[in-house]
Amino acid sequence: MKRIKAIYPGSFDPPTNGHLDLIERGSKIFDELVVAILRNPEKDPLFTVADRRKMLEAMTSNFDNVSVDTFDGLTVDYALRLDARAILRGIRAISDYEYELQMALMNRKLQPALETVFMMPAEKYSYLSSRLVREVAQLGGSIDCLVPPLVAQKVREKMDVAHRFEKGEPATGKAQAEGKRKFRKKKL
Ligand code: PNS
Repeated sequence: MKRIKAIYPGSFDPPTNGHLDLIERGSKIFDELVVAILRNPEKDPLFTVADRRKMLEAMTSNFDNVSVDTFDGLTVDYALRLDARAILRGIRAISDYEYELQMALMNRKLQPALETVFMMPAEKYSYLSSRLVREVAQLGGSIDCLVPPLVAQKVREKMDVAHRFEKGEPATGKAQAEGKRKFRKKKL
């Protein structure tokens, strides 16, 4: 019997409980699920691709059929290289639908053999996004219920470096360079 492999592409900056919820649901209906982090040189992410990969690997270590990878270029080309049959995406609310539909139809145009499968995360995550997690953390709010503990810790470390730089407190090496960059950008 043919095993069905799917990819779950995204930015995951940072990965949230909503992503994890979707990964768990996807792992139950696909034989194999590859969480695929886009390497996007145009964006200025909070976390490097390597950091995001480490976090996602730790978050998914208890799922036997889930792996984590990175890709660039077209999602459909990456999916074909992996011999995947489906692209998994989450839809939280109607507001997601238009963008997701557009993307799914474009992907179908590019590669008709691939199906996009939409799943809904648990309702309690319907308001959750990586962007809001970054914003709440930057403004000093708690993100403990929004992301796994290891991600919350990593986000706190990032914010700490940026805040220390803002207050003129010493930081060294990589942390200092990063603090400067985040401070200059103002927007995390
Ligand atoms: O988590 P995100 O940022 O909503 O994920 C968006 C992502 C990575 C799935 C999308 O930007 C994407 O597929 N990018 C790869 C380039 C591509 O294939 N573009 C055409 C999509 S129709």
